[in-house]
Amino acid sequence: MNKQILSGIKPSGDLNIGGYGGALSQFVQYQHDFECFFFVPDLHAITVPQDPQQLARRTREIAAFYIAAGIDPTKSAIFLQSQVPAHTELAWLLETQASFGELGRMTQFKDKSNGKESVSSALFTYPVLMAADILLYQATHVPVGEDQKQHLELTRNLAERFNHRFGETFVVPEPLIQDIGSRIMGLDDPTKKMSKSNPNLSSYVLMLDPPDTIRKKFARAVTDSESSVRCDWDTKPAVSNLIEIYSVFANEPVEIIEKRYAGEGYGTFKKDLAEVVVDKLVPIQEKFKEIVDSRELDDILKRGAQKASEKAYDTLKRAKQAMGLVTF
Ligand code: TYM
Repeated sequence: MNKQILSGIKPSGDLNIGGYGGALSQFVQYQHDFECFFFVPDLHAITVPQDPQQLARRTREIAAFYIAAGIDPTKSAIFLQSQVPAHTELAWLLETQASFGELGRMTQFKDKSNGKESVSSALFTYPVLMAADILLYQATHVPVGEDQKQHLELTRNLAERFNHRFGETFVVPEPLIQDIGSRIMGLDDPTKKMSKSNPNLSSYVLMLDPPDTIRKKFARAVTDSESSVRCDWDTKPAVSNLIEIYSVFANEPVEIIEKRYAGEGYGTFKKDLAEVVVDKLVPIQEKFKEIVDSRELDDILKRGAQKASEKAYDTLKRAKQAMGLVTF
């Protein structure tokens, strides 16, 4: 089977190393083996209030991170979701197939709406737009972090339901969730996902943090009372989280890291971890700065949208025909 990948990172906050571990580092690896579509889901970001200028800035930034991290735009399409209207059109068709009950069970919706007086209806239907993103490109594989698993399950259900009701139209996609890096937790609390919404600034490392800030944040990271550098999520979640971050950034298996630090204290390990992260991020930051405000980025995004549109409209047309909508 021809393998195809689609994935994206929302431009809703400054990118932290969680998004790198769960998503971006994977994108870079898969580009060689798959036909890839990497997009910036800007329409997903506006399901919660955004400052328009900041949204535009962050949208460019995410696209620039894709390239700076090593995605080759001559091989993979890089584009903005809002530049390909087929996403919202297919989302509408799929909404007619999704039930209110199944959308209400989405844990991310429950978390994001919890305690809020009012949330947008788009926040509720968001997972259907995500399904449309994926199904439009007939993606066989979708690299994501652990927190997107339920959305992927919904996408699979919608694809199967549609195919069953209207005939084979969509590929049913598989999530690609890596063992290591798919759930990077906060540096202050290994039970909570690393997230920019945490008010404790030392709980996350941003992709654009300067080296000294990165060093300080890792120096402050919580560890465990038992002092061996060993990965065991049940009894040593804080150190296990740090080892996984090391593994992602050094591109080394956990066992090699455990062996290297056998008999060493946490101090040396945390210092080295900071250097491993700095070594990886500094070149990405340099490339990012070169590209983020460039005309070259505009051109890449325009070309990407063209390539994406061709594929997307082909699928959209088939879905419309299958449902009995008249197309010419
Ligand atoms: P988003 O923008 O919240 O996150 C982007 C990707 O990064 C992963 N991620 C993490 N992985 C490990 N540890 C963390 N702490 C961490 N934080 C974030 C996420 O799992 C995700 O893979 N709905 C999606 C965006 C989206 C999408 C799509 C993704 C829209 N349409 C189609 C794939 C395919 C989201 O909000 O991810």
